[in-house]
Amino acid sequence: MKSVEGSIKCADDAPKELLHKLHVEYLATYSSNPKHAMEKTISEYLRMSGAYWTLTGLRLLGAADRLDRSELLRFIGQCQTPAGGVAGSVGHDPHLLYTLSAVQICCMYDALDTLDVPRLVEYVAGLQRPDGSFQGDSWGEVDTRFSFCAIACLTLLNRLDAIDTAAAGEFVLSCHNWDGGFGSRPRSESHAGQMYCCLGALSLLGRLGELDADRTGWWLCERQLPAGGLNGRPEKLPDVCYSWWVLASLSILGRLHWIDEESVTRFILASQDGEDGGISDRPGDVCDPFHTLFGLAGLSLLGDRSLAPIDPVLCMPTETVRGRGVRPQVLT
Ligand code: FPP
Ligand code: ZN
Repeated sequence: MKSVEGSIKCADDAPKELLHKLHVEYLATYSSNPKHAMEKTISEYLRMSGAYWTLTGLRLLGAADRLDRSELLRFIGQCQTPAGGVAGSVGHDPHLLYTLSAVQICCMYDALDTLDVPRLVEYVAGLQRPDGSFQGDSWGEVDTRFSFCAIACLTLLNRLDAIDTAAAGEFVLSCHNWDGGFGSRPRSESHAGQMYCCLGALSLLGRLGELDADRTGWWLCERQLPAGGLNGRPEKLPDVCYSWWVLASLSILGRLHWIDEESVTRFILASQDGEDGGISDRPGDVCDPFHTLFGLAGLSLLGDRSLAPIDPVLCMPTETVRGRGVRPQVLT
């Protein structure tokens, strides 16, 4: 079988510096740019998370003032449903994914009064199941992504007391696999996105000490491919968003230095669009705000001082997280 590992390379003429100004323009004008009309329509269902990716990216670039704060907060107010949860768009059903994005945006804007917080807390707590897991919405899908969303929301709102934190932690630990990775449910395949969610949840619950950090870190550092990029599972292509899921996870474990920082930096920089700004999943592909945020966030973690420092657990500016009195556990 042909391995994918060597198949993605950075071209010699690919960007080698961070295109700061182009990314500000790309993110600030993304939703009004007629070039993106089609993507906007297709991704309407996750508009709330799109707003979080855009605002956080602009915060890292020091240009959050390029977005219309009151318009965004009005949108959030319209997306909170009578059940207390927040939908991805006006008139849609609420989900934990979008509830977390809304809470993150309100924290970044210091505007939590936009939300009915007691009802939101009740919504989140009501999605916990007797085994400690969380379903994403009233339809019942269970996934460790939703454990992270619930725990992150309640941490930012200082309301972890509303759930059974002991059971929540036990469920996440039950998704830890023999190979050192974590999956979406017990015995599910290890996946770097799930790794980030599980380590993030355990960090916020102060339970990282229960892990074998070396075995977990080893699975993560094996995600780096020869061209420098990181994949999410063995035999998958490298992808810039995994620079975040993997680097943040290694950073939480205090083992960021286990990967080759120079070559992953080169891979992220080579995935920039040198004309219109934005970052794509890998060199030469079309950019989007999701990969732009996670590329920037990865570079911030790797120490790019032209970007604001990022919190590896909550993927928000460290300043915002500290400002809320939150200090996620990280290993040293
Ligand atoms: C890969 O998804 C990514 C994940 C499974 C992690 C998603 C994390 C969250 C929803 C938590 C919220 C995140 C932040 C930053 C606050 P994929 O479906 O693209 O996986 P694939 O690459 O295998 O298709
Ligand atoms: Zn991706």
